[in-house]
Formats: sequence, structure tokens, C-alpha cells
Amino acid sequence: MAVSRLEAVSLSMPGLLLFLSIHLAASQHPLPSPDEECSRRVHPVVSYQALRPWVSSFSFAGVQDYSQLALDINRNQLIVGARNYLFKLSLFNISLIQVECQNYIRVLLISGKKLFTCGTNAFLPVCTTRQIGNLSRVIDRVNGVARCPYDPRHNSTAVVTSQGELYAATVIDFSGRDPVIYRSLGNMPPLRTAQYNSKWLNEPNFIAAYDMGLFTYFFLRENAVEHDCGKVVYSRVARVCKNDLGGRFLLEDTWTTFMKARLNCSRSGEIPFYYNELQSTFYLPEQDLLYGIFTTNVNSIAASAVCSFNLSAITQAFNGPFRYQENPRSTWLPTPNPIPNFQCGTVNDNTPNENLTERSLQDAQRLFLMNDVVQPVSVDPLVTQDNVRFSKLVVDIVQGRDTLHHVMYIGTEYGTILKVLATSNKSLRGCFLEEMQLLPSGQREPILSLQILHSDRSLFVGLNGNVLKIPLERCSNYKTER
Ligand SMILES: *[C@@H]1O[C@H](CO)[C@@H](O)[C@H](O)[C@H]1NC(C)=O
Ligand SMILES: *[C@@H]1O[C@H](CO)[C@@H](O)[C@H](O)[C@H]1NC(C)=O
Ligand SMILES: *[C@@H]1O[C@H](CO)[C@@H](O)[C@H](O)[C@H]1NC(C)=O
Ligand SMILES: *[C@@H]1O[C@H](CO)[C@@H](O)[C@H](O)[C@H]1NC(C)=O
Ligand SMILES: *[C@@H]1O[C@H](CO)[C@@H](O)[C@H](O)[C@H]1NC(C)=O
Ligand SMILES: *[C@@H]1O[C@H](CO)[C@@H](O)[C@H](O)[C@H]1NC(C)=O
Ligand SMILES: *[C@@H]1O[C@H](CO)[C@@H](O)[C@H](O)[C@H]1NC(C)=O
Repeated sequence: MAVSRLEAVSLSMPGLLLFLSIHLAASQHPLPSPDEECSRRVHPVVSYQALRPWVSSFSFAGVQDYSQLALDINRNQLIVGARNYLFKLSLFNISLIQVECQNYIRVLLISGKKLFTCGTNAFLPVCTTRQIGNLSRVIDRVNGVARCPYDPRHNSTAVVTSQGELYAATVIDFSGRDPVIYRSLGNMPPLRTAQYNSKWLNEPNFIAAYDMGLFTYFFLRENAVEHDCGKVVYSRVARVCKNDLGGRFLLEDTWTTFMKARLNCSRSGEIPFYYNELQSTFYLPEQDLLYGIFTTNVNSIAASAVCSFNLSAITQAFNGPFRYQENPRSTWLPTPNPIPNFQCGTVNDNTPNENLTERSLQDAQRLFLMNDVVQPVSVDPLVTQDNVRFSKLVVDIVQGRDTLHHVMYIGTEYGTILKVLATSNKSLRGCFLEEMQLLPSGQREPILSLQILHSDRSLFVGLNGNVLKIPLERCSNYKTER
């Protein structure tokens, strides 16, 4: 088997590069570069049996759907949300520290010393703030409507910003027809996306939300309003200004800074092949790089890809022209951006605390779809695979012989994790380092959640039946099957 030595770079603490020398294989041979591994025809498969000695597992009798994982680095704990349960585990050996009954958890966010959770609570969504040191200590309980879906199957997301506001992307009503990006809690006024307006959001599935600088960003897929023949799903990035105060008379209690752009993840060619449906994202803040898993529609042949997007490319699309539809029957046409480098500026309306954003409310009401599509870092996806649906991913940064490499850990729908080198170098494209089988043979179920802890060189995996901890590198007995 190929032998390689990679030096891992821990980026868990901003600005601090901690160099660790990791030997993937106990061998004194000269060190080949990843391209030697990439030249292998078939990627090695690490069987469930071979992996088992390295894996720690946590499960609790009768509990299923360990789909929400959050790392609490300060206390060396892993918080796990499962169906009707909340667990606190030791980060080191994932042994149980505390267990709490909770309704079906759909939102699990750590904010300082508090844990914020929302659950569907048998179709009466409720959110709870707890003390993270003692999950039994409930600090606050609020209505979960517009913060958590009624139905646990709905794909929602949320983020708490550094200022303490909750941004939730979910559905408001019981039937799931009223999607919303909603700000609440904290000190800013509550705001939402325009109601029952399919131009703003059209049957969206929300994937992720991030607090970045002046903006809160949302990643989603939705029916494409601008596509005029047949139903097509597009992947999007949307954003709002964190200092948005809403409109007055027009767009009252509604965002005045909402904008969205399409994300392009496709295989190039005369007729590009599009992976239209975003499934999962991973953000590397040190490089302003967003990785996304994209797939084909569930009703077509399965195919998956990973594309990465530079935040500067996203910003560029938001600085470009809009696309605008004059009336419901006309096509969407490009129109110039009235404020091409909009930086969330506000204008004082002479009434204190009644500022408006510098966007005109008329523009804010009609100009929110960007004309330009956000293009990925490389023309073709970083990795593609047919007949498979990827579900989740995380990215590690490792020091190769000459350069830093990004190594992706991609969870599949059938319970394996692919370890793949991400590089824009075409000759190394799609280099599979290995595939780890997390389930005994014959068992197939999706990877529900993935978290990476760079400083501990480990991976945490949420499955239907348990939570696993796996080291990123396995040093000896590195047995693989070809
Ligand atoms: C797991 O680690 C904790 C420290 O975080 C320790 O107290 C506990 O005994 C360990 N449990 C096992 C089973 O090793
Ligand atoms: C945790 O909080 C609960 C409820 O306030 C309290 O009864 C319990 O004693 C606390 N446990 C610890 C270890 O502080
Ligand atoms: C949520 O996303 C998953 C994965 O793409 C999909 O299978 C499921 O149908 C979505 N849920 C809803 C309610 O659309
Ligand atoms: C998406 O990217 C492909 C490959 O580079 C390109 O051919 C295609 O024109 C792009 N599509 C859009 C809508 O930008
Ligand atoms: C992202 O964009 C910035 C600014 O254009 C550039 O300096 C950086 O190299 C880009 N990163 C990648 C990974 O392409
Ligand atoms: C309103 O705008 C003025 C400057 O135009 C600024 O100084 C003030 O902080 C703003 N107030 C709020 C509540 O944003
Ligand atoms: C891409 O990788 C190949 C094989 O390792 C190497 O020969 C080539 O110099 C690399 N190209 C770039 C632009 O780094």
C-alpha cells in the first residue's frame, strides 16, 4: 500500500498554526506526495472490522436519530441532539456526562455559556435556553414558531450571531407553505422575508446559515423562479444585513436587504451537467472558502459532486446586476445594481432609532435576485461520483510536502465516509484516499451529521443508531482492502 506522511495543521484556534507531524504509516520509506496515492486505480476500502479498534461509540437504549452534534471546545464536550433526547458527552471518549429528555431537537446552537435548542414538541415547536454546564438548568423558554419547523422532516437551519440575535430559516405554518428567514431575540427588531411571496423563497430546503461580518448568509435550494420552462431546483446563497431595521409603510417588519444568487456546481462541457441540489456545506473561515455537496434531483439518476466557493466570488455576485421581473408573465431581465458595493449603510431619518438602510424601499421590494451566478473556485467540481448521494462533509487542512492540502471527509447515504483530496490541480482532481465503512456489511443508512475537531485530530459522526468518534489518522495496523 502507499505510504504517506502528512503534516497536519490545526486551525481550530484562529491565527494559531499548530504543526503536528503525523505518520500515516509506520514506515521509514521515502515520503511520496499525495499524487502517488492518487495514481492508484481503486481507492482503498477500510472495512468495518478493520476500523472498529479505532472507533469509540455512544448510544442510549431506545434512542434514534443522532442528527444534531455541537462541539463545546471550552468544556471539552460534545452536545448531541437526538429524537427526544439531549446528551452531553466527553469529547475524549464520548462517554455520557449528562442526559436530558427533550422534544425532537431540530436546532442546537452553542452561544457562549448557553445552549439554545428548539424542538418540534409534537407539532407545538418550543425553544429552550439552558446553562451549558448543567443542561437541567433552563434559563428561558420561548415559542418555537418561526424558529423551528412543526415537522422534524423539514430542512431548517439557524445561527446565533455574536450579537445574540437568532436567525432562523424554516417554515412558519403547520402545512409548511410559509417559508421564512426570521430574525428574533437579541436587541434588533424582529424581521422576516416577505410572506407568501414565492419570488423571495420558493419551496426552499434550508441547508446552513453563517454569521459573517456585516451579513448573515443562508445556503439553500429552492424552485427556480427565473426558470420559465418546467420545474427546476437551484442552489442559492442568500444574505441580509445584520443592521437591517426593516421598512416603514413599505416592507414593514420585513428585510430591506435580502438578496440571493444562484450557485453553480457543474461539470463543464458543451452542455454542462448541473448538480443543482445543495445538500450540505462546510465553511473554512481561515480561507473564506465554502464547500458544498451538490446532487442531482431525487427523481433522476443519483450523482454527487463537491464544489467550493470563495466568499469573494459570492460578494462579487451580490455587487453585480440584479434580475428583475416586470410583471408575472414577463421574463426575468438583468437590471443595473443601484448600489453596486452595498455595505449595509444606513440613513438617518431624523427620528432617532428609526434609521432605514440606504437601499430604497421600492428597490428592496423588487430587486433581490442577482443576475450573476456564483462560480466555484475550479471550473469542474473538486470531486464527482455517480450512483451515490453524498450527505454531509467536513474539511481538514494538512501540510503536504510543498503545499497545504484540503482533505474532505464526505459522508454518504449508505454509511461510509470518503476521504478525498481537494485540489484545483486538474491532474490530482478527485483523488480518493480511502473509504471508511462505518456500518457492518449489509447495513445501509445515511451519515446524519459530521463534525471535525482539528485540534484533537478527530471526526464525530451522527448516525441513526449511535454517535462515533474516529481519529483522522490511524497510525499502525493500517490495513486496507483493495
Ligand atoms: C472518559 O473521559 C472522562 C474524562 O473526560 C473520564 O472521567 C471517564 O472516566 C472516561 N470514561 C471511560 C469509560 O474511559
Ligand atoms: C443542575 O440544575 C438542576 C436544576 O436547576 C439542579 O436541580 C441540579 O442540582 C443541578 N446539578 C448540578 C450538578 O449543579
Ligand atoms: C430534506 O432534505 C433531504 C435530503 O436532501 C430530503 O431527502 C428530504 O426530502 C428533505 N425534506 C423535505 C421535507 O423536503
Ligand atoms: C456553470 O459552470 C459551467 C462550467 O464552468 C459553465 O459552462 C456554465 O456556463 C455555468 N453556468 C452558469 C449558469 O453560470
Ligand atoms: C479567494 O479570493 C481571494 C480574493 O480574490 C484570493 O486572494 C484567494 O486566493 C481566493 N482563494 C481561493 C482558494 O481561490
Ligand atoms: C442611524 O444612523 C446614524 C448615521 O446616519 C448613526 O449614527 C446611528 O447609529 C444610526 N442608528 C441606528 C439605530 O442604527
Ligand atoms: C499538479 O500536479 C501534478 C502532479 O503532482 C504536478 O506535476 C503539477 O506540477 C501540478 N500543477 C500545478 C499547477 O501545481
